[in-house]
Amino acid sequence: MREPINVLILAAGLGTRMKSDQAKVLHRLGGRPLIAHVLRSAAQLDPEQIFVVVGHQAEQVEAAAQAALPPALAARLRFVVQAEQRGTGHAVRCARTALGEARGALVVSYGDAPLVKAETFRKLVDEHERERQAATLLTITMAQPPAYGRIVRDAEGQFLQIVEDKDCTPEQRRITELNPGFYCFDIPSLLPALDQLTTRNAQGEYYLTDVPEILRRAGQKVGTVFHADEAELQGINTRVELAASWKRLRLEILNRLMLEGVSIVDPDSTYIDDGVEIGRDTVIHPQVIIEGTSRVGERCEIHSWSHLTNVQIGDECKVQNSCVIIDSKLTARNSVGPFAHLRMQAELGEEAVIGNFVEVKKSRLGRKTKSMHLSYLGDATIGERVNIGAATVTCNYDGKQKHPTIIEDDVKIGSDTMLVAPIRVGRGAVSGAGSVITKDVPPETLVAGVPAQIKKRLKA
Ligand code: UD1
Ligand code: CA
Repeated sequence: MREPINVLILAAGLGTRMKSDQAKVLHRLGGRPLIAHVLRSAAQLDPEQIFVVVGHQAEQVEAAAQAALPPALAARLRFVVQAEQRGTGHAVRCARTALGEARGALVVSYGDAPLVKAETFRKLVDEHERERQAATLLTITMAQPPAYGRIVRDAEGQFLQIVEDKDCTPEQRRITELNPGFYCFDIPSLLPALDQLTTRNAQGEYYLTDVPEILRRAGQKVGTVFHADEAELQGINTRVELAASWKRLRLEILNRLMLEGVSIVDPDSTYIDDGVEIGRDTVIHPQVIIEGTSRVGERCEIHSWSHLTNVQIGDECKVQNSCVIIDSKLTARNSVGPFAHLRMQAELGEEAVIGNFVEVKKSRLGRKTKSMHLSYLGDATIGERVNIGAATVTCNYDGKQKHPTIIEDDVKIGSDTMLVAPIRVGRGAVSGAGSVITKDVPPETLVAGVPAQIKKRLKA
């Protein structure tokens, strides 16, 4: 039987090199905080427990970790506080009481390495189990090593120790095999080794990277697994590295979508967050941004310079150039824009159309309803087959409060109509151009004027 697996993520540091008031692991990459990426990959090991060492902005980091995982996995999170950051070894030591009850293997990684894939964690654990080692670590090589720990080996190539960049002799600094910071430990071997850590090093910290050497000296088996894709394991220390990681993740996301049947005309200028879903035969034109929890259906066209955030878009919808759509829903066969703004739960029924320079806020438009030009629809509930003439405004705000507008089915609102809310326009009614409607309009009537008066009854 397989030993149980546990995960421990270090996320207590501030991340001084980010020059930020925000803890490093909370900085966002592709719409998620850094820590969420690492957790989501590690969680695919199906661990018994997931320990997260927190310190700086602990509450926010805990909340970000909780939000990163589906509820069943989030229930396995255990937070450990490291009040003072005295090194990565000290951080793991802070988890000792919590770990005391854990069984099996412990995968340890840092919260600042967001590109790591679940398969890579799997590869590390598989090697650890196959070789029955006390410690197993991933290694990478880089011709021009950054300030990473160096992997020092003996003449036979056996692992000896990790030496931190700041502690390297000039000769050691030339070593190109590096520690990317992914470890798997046998928990009963790890715990006593943590007690032997000292701060006798250039940074005066307890280094987790000293543990493998301590175990080896104690006669325990320590091994390494080489990982060829060093960019995947890159830790983010600066905003320059954050941007470089986003470039890589972005292309991964776009490649996956293209292979799933989405056309992306110009991947170099397309920005789609991690987790956004897009259906087959949808075409994304250059310079489009799609963020957050967005889902776009099949056979849609999203045209250039449109920015979509948390949108739900059904099949066969068209978003024309330069639209901004936030927290809103298109049902099916809708057309929006160019130059439209939908926000705060705007919702379009099937085949509804929103044209140029129209803003829709917190409003629902029914099937086949159209507002083609220069209008503001706010706090409105609009029925089916309604036509909203150019330059219509729902005057929803009286300076203190927002008020609702209700427009029933088959209404025709003439150009430049002002609807002074709260107001209801009955089914089949018509307003003349330039009307200012201040009172409810009965069904099947024509109103016009300022303020609008009933001019005649219409045949149903
Ligand atoms: C670490 C490794 C180094 C490796 C590099 C790879 C150590 C001593 N060094 O260096 O060998 O090449 O990662 O990226 O481990 N943290 C805490 N508490 C602390 C200190 C750090 O939780 O007291 C967390 C930080 O929040 C961060 C992670 O540990 O997420 C790594 O710390 P960082 O200072 O970035 O380590 P590096 O200097 O990059
Ligand atoms: Ca780091």
